Amino acid sequence: MAKTKTRSRCADCGHLEPRWVGRCPSCQAWGTLHEETVRASPVAHRSAAGAAAATPATPIAAVSLDGDRRTPTGIGELDRVLGGGLVPGSVTLLGGEPGAGKSTVLLQAADALAGRGLSVLYVSAEESPGQVRMRAERLSTLQDGLLLAAEADVPSILGLVEHHDPDVLIVDSVQTIRHPDVAGHAGGVTQVRDCAAALTATAKQRGMATILVGHVTKDGQLAGPRVLEHLVDAVCEIEGDRHHALRLIRATKNRFGAVGEVGCFEMTDSGLVGLDDAGRLFVGETPSGTAGVAVTIALEGRRPMACEVQALVDRTPLTHPRRVASGLDAQRLSLLVAVLQRRANVDLQQQDVYASSVGGVRLAEPAVDLALCLAVASSRTDAPVGDDLVVLGEVGLAGEVRLVSQTQRRLAEAARLGFGGAVVPAAYDGPAYGLQLQRARDLSGALTVGLKSARLVGV
Ligand code: TYD
Ligand code: MG
Repeated sequence: MAKTKTRSRCADCGHLEPRWVGRCPSCQAWGTLHEETVRASPVAHRSAAGAAAATPATPIAAVSLDGDRRTPTGIGELDRVLGGGLVPGSVTLLGGEPGAGKSTVLLQAADALAGRGLSVLYVSAEESPGQVRMRAERLSTLQDGLLLAAEADVPSILGLVEHHDPDVLIVDSVQTIRHPDVAGHAGGVTQVRDCAAALTATAKQRGMATILVGHVTKDGQLAGPRVLEHLVDAVCEIEGDRHHALRLIRATKNRFGAVGEVGCFEMTDSGLVGLDDAGRLFVGETPSGTAGVAVTIALEGRRPMACEVQALVDRTPLTHPRRVASGLDAQRLSLLVAVLQRRANVDLQQQDVYASSVGGVRLAEPAVDLALCLAVASSRTDAPVGDDLVVLGEVGLAGEVRLVSQTQRRLAEAARLGFGGAVVPAAYDGPAYGLQLQRARDLSGALTVGLKSARLVGV
């Protein structure tokens, strides 16, 4: 016989305690721990007869390809992120901040799928069918194959699935649905995990492609447990500032395709419109000669995109000057400020440094380093970055400028977009694509060739 023991689990955050306590030591909530029984090592006590009932193994060549049966959603930029389309039985989590456009893009996808003859069940646990219909008036062609339901109760959602047998299920959102047999409030870790598990099991069993919407908190975390990411086949995130029209959808996990692919959209009055060519969308319209701006070519997935980095350096009365980053990595900014001070003699000691990307895009790759350094130094010295220049390079702690991946592709894109020149690491020995290349071995060198006036040392 397997031994049994009890332990307590917090219904809000999923924390486990060996005994019952009144307050959860992890999330500090009162009265949320419930005792549960665990059977110790049931695996060891499984009979051989039970094991024999499992699905037999199949020679690898005889296994059918899941990815082959994928259905394009009909929204090109979304399909690009999904690796071609939705795979039957797959579960995709679409995360994003409120107002990012999750409901919008999914309603558009649902409409497009229904237009291709698939049946789609769109379950909204946040809005009434009337509200969804109102949005659909702007976005969709009101296909017969698209069914709407306002339901937050998981057994009822499963009942709807049983009744309508849809090809695709969309649940908006996983934080607002609830299973009555599970402890905790909707949106709590236990509820989110168990509800998602129930929907995932149904998706696999029926071969029904499922998309779950997940809200993302301000600090960029998918609310609810990370365990949700392990449960699903693909995780996509929609990002972009709600005050800007641009949106990027990015896959951070995809069991059926490549990750890192990015879909680019513009939010318009009639929903999200895919953009084949990001062009100069992430480049601001500052007049030439403005200090504190630099352009780099970021690589999102396989897609090079021109992105502007802006910096503002201002004298501060504070003992600990501010280093504030928006759309850029704050730690990286602090590090680069230190490198600028120590290796390139740019005095930022009594200066606040604010840095930002343009258009709400998030730039995390090291290729942005040199552009960020140039923007900060440019703002500090009031010397603008050279006209029509793109800046490519990673900056090391020793102040050296390193080559970034796929410099050639980035330069080719810069040339296509009509830039005139580029600051590149000295190690680059590829083609110039008609650009005037300025090579830099280290940060000081890059500042000398990249900034219009060399009034730099000891500012
Ligand atoms: P929504 O899809 O509801 O965001 P989420 O589900 O991620 O919370 O809508 C996002 C924003 O987009 C909302 O503020 C209104 C705006 N919007 C448009 O600009 N055009 C449109 O056609 C629609 C439907 C929404
Ligand atoms: Mg929504």
